[in-house]
Amino acid sequence: MKDIIRIGMVGGGEGAFIGAVHRMAARLDGQYRLVAGAFSSDAQRSRASGMALGIEPTRAYADWRAMLDGEAQRADGIEAVVIVTPNHLHARVARDCLAAGLHVLCDKPLANTLDEAHELLQVARASQRLFGVTYTYSGYPLVRHARALVAAGEIGEIRSVQVRYAQDWLSTPVEMAGNKQAAWRSDPALAGEGGAIADIGTHAYHLARYVSGLDAQALLADLTSAVTGRRVDDNAHVLLRYANGARGMLWASQTAPGNANNLELAIYGSRGGLNWRQEAPDELWFAPLGESARVIRRGDASLCAAATTATRVPMGHPEGYLEAFANLYADFAAAIHAHRAGESHTHANRFPTIEDGLDGMRFIRAALTSSREGGVWLPLR
Ligand SMILES: NC(=O)c1ccc[n+]([C@@H]2O[C@H](COP(=O)([O-])OP(=O)(O)OC[C@H]3O[C@@H](n4cnc5c(N)ncnc54)[C@H](O)[C@@H]3O)[C@@H](O)[C@H]2O)c1
Repeated sequence: MKDIIRIGMVGGGEGAFIGAVHRMAARLDGQYRLVAGAFSSDAQRSRASGMALGIEPTRAYADWRAMLDGEAQRADGIEAVVIVTPNHLHARVARDCLAAGLHVLCDKPLANTLDEAHELLQVARASQRLFGVTYTYSGYPLVRHARALVAAGEIGEIRSVQVRYAQDWLSTPVEMAGNKQAAWRSDPALAGEGGAIADIGTHAYHLARYVSGLDAQALLADLTSAVTGRRVDDNAHVLLRYANGARGMLWASQTAPGNANNLELAIYGSRGGLNWRQEAPDELWFAPLGESARVIRRGDASLCAAATTATRVPMGHPEGYLEAFANLYADFAAAIHAHRAGESHTHANRFPTIEDGLDGMRFIRAALTSSREGGVWLPLR
């Protein structure tokens, strides 16, 4: 049995969304223990949140710097930190954690600005610590299988990448009506310059890149706010060009009624096509050219190793969001164990890294600039 990895959390206090998801994911395979945290910007709320989670009272800290100082004094201090605050704190907290010698698992987007992300990458590389970014959707078994199919040439040369991420929860100005999650997401000081393009567009962009294996070379974007008075975009249309001549379309909207978390990826190549939907994640549609389309199911005996090892229960017992998140945690744990042993861990096909986080920031910046300039093609790399 490998030693449990002791983690601290920054953000994720009572009433927060993604912090609780991270905690469930971290618990799923029994490899982590949450032992410390700075769960809120308010010291009392942080303590109350820690108590509710069963954290020792002295380890529910007033802020993240106190957590880093306090934990450094302990023989059983934390080894890694999970960052689940609003975006503006990601880079600041991550830098301090790396300086304290800790591994970092940070939610997306990596930072508030591209400059901040570049700086953070330098700090992370110099620190020799692990840095994961939780682009959740790369944790789904059938997303991993889709990637393997593309890499094996099963759909031939890619010609078209179509990805959409549609939600409807920001269709009205809920940020004015006390919705906390909406409030920070529509404040550029807390969310960064991007709205939907950063919040969900980066997920779609990463998913398309992860499965296709292609880096977009240029984009043209048209970002709008459907809700009057909103200070960030809530609807984004983006065209993409790839080095091999393939073209892509990405639509990210948080003002599309009838859509809860409608993320869908379709990739078409010279020999076939495939399609995966987050709301039906146990099925991958695969159509070799000239043959009937077939549905590949999670748990099929023919799935690649990356998909099989990311599966916990047999076919017919649905898996989903929490398990996908847990797969990123499992991969991150494997990397930490290798790091402890002084081995280098190859995480090809595994958890997204800070480089992927930086790529997402490049995408946001280019999309915002392109749109502000009236919709021009801009290079991405
Ligand atoms: N990977 C995904 O699928 C996914 C999904 C949702 C959100 N996210 C990302 O997770 C992050 C949090 O989003 P959310 O929806 O959970 O937001 P949220 O508003 O629900 O939670 C944010 C938490 O951070 C805390 N916080 C704020 N300032 C703090 C500080 N100075 N110190 C400690 N804690 C502080 C808040 O008190 C709150 O508990 C965002 O970066 C978002 O983009 C990722």
